[in-house]
Amino acid sequence: MCPPDYFDIKYSINPWMNTKENVSRNKRIQWETLKETFEKLNVQIKLLKPQKRFPDMVYVDIGIVYKNNFIPSNFRYKERQGERKYAVDWFKKHGYKIIEIEKDFYFEGHGDTLWAGDKLFFGYGFRSSMEAQKQVEKILKKINPKIEIIPIELIDPRFYHLDTCFCPLNSKQALYFPGAFSPKAKKMLTKNIELIPVSEKEAKKFACNAVVINKDILIPADANFIYKKLKKLGYKIHPIEMTEFIKGGGACKCLSFVM
Ligand code: ARG
Repeated sequence: MCPPDYFDIKYSINPWMNTKENVSRNKRIQWETLKETFEKLNVQIKLLKPQKRFPDMVYVDIGIVYKNNFIPSNFRYKERQGERKYAVDWFKKHGYKIIEIEKDFYFEGHGDTLWAGDKLFFGYGFRSSMEAQKQVEKILKKINPKIEIIPIELIDPRFYHLDTCFCPLNSKQALYFPGAFSPKAKKMLTKNIELIPVSEKEAKKFACNAVVINKDILIPADANFIYKKLKKLGYKIHPIEMTEFIKGGGACKCLSFVM
C-alpha cells in the first residue's frame, strides 16, 4: 500500500476525477481503516513511499507479480508515468526479477488483470492495450504454460479498469457490472466463470472494487444489496468508507496490491 499523504485531485484522467472537488481529511481515516482491516486478517502490509509529484500513487496500479517476477505498468497518461520508477526500485530492492514489456504498449498492472485460479482476465480498451496483453501472455506462459489469458474488452469510460467492474471471488465465481463489457467480452466472461451481477447503483459505489481474502471481503460501504448476496454465499463482509478515493476513481482494491 502507499500512504495517502499527497493524494488529491490535481488532474482528471477518468470521469470520476473533478479537479474542483475537495478531498477531505477523511482520506487518512479511510485509508488507515482499510489497512487495519487487512492487518486484522493477518495480511502483512508493506509500504511504498508516497511522492509529492504523484498524487495517484495511492492507487498502487504499479504492475503485476507472478511468483518472483514483477512486470511493471506502462501507464497510459503522462501524469502517472513517473510512478513506475518507484515501483521498479521497490521490487528490485525486495529481490524480484523485473520483466518489462515494450515501452509503447500501455499496461496498467493489476488494475486491468485479475486472477481466478490459473486464468488471468485481462481488461483492455481504456488503459491497457491488446499488444500489452500479448506480451504479458508470452512472459507468463514461459513461467507457467498452464496459465490462460482471457482478453476482456471494456466499453464504459466510468469503468475504465477491469477491477472497477469485475471481481473474482474464487476460481469459479465473480462479481461483475454487466454494462461495462462489450458483447464479445460478456461471452468470454460467461464461458470462463460464473457471474454474479452488481446493479449500476452499486457499481457506482465501487462494489466490484473489492479484495477477497479467502472468505473475507473488504468492500466499499453502501452496497447493501450485494452484501446480502455475498453473505448467502458464506462470505464475511467488511464494508469500508471509500468516499474520498472514489473521487479519484478507485477504492479498496486499487488501494492495495495483494500478492
Ligand atoms: N486516478 C487513478 C487513475 O485514473 C485511479 C486509479 C484506480 N486504480 C484502479 N486499479 N482501478 O489512474
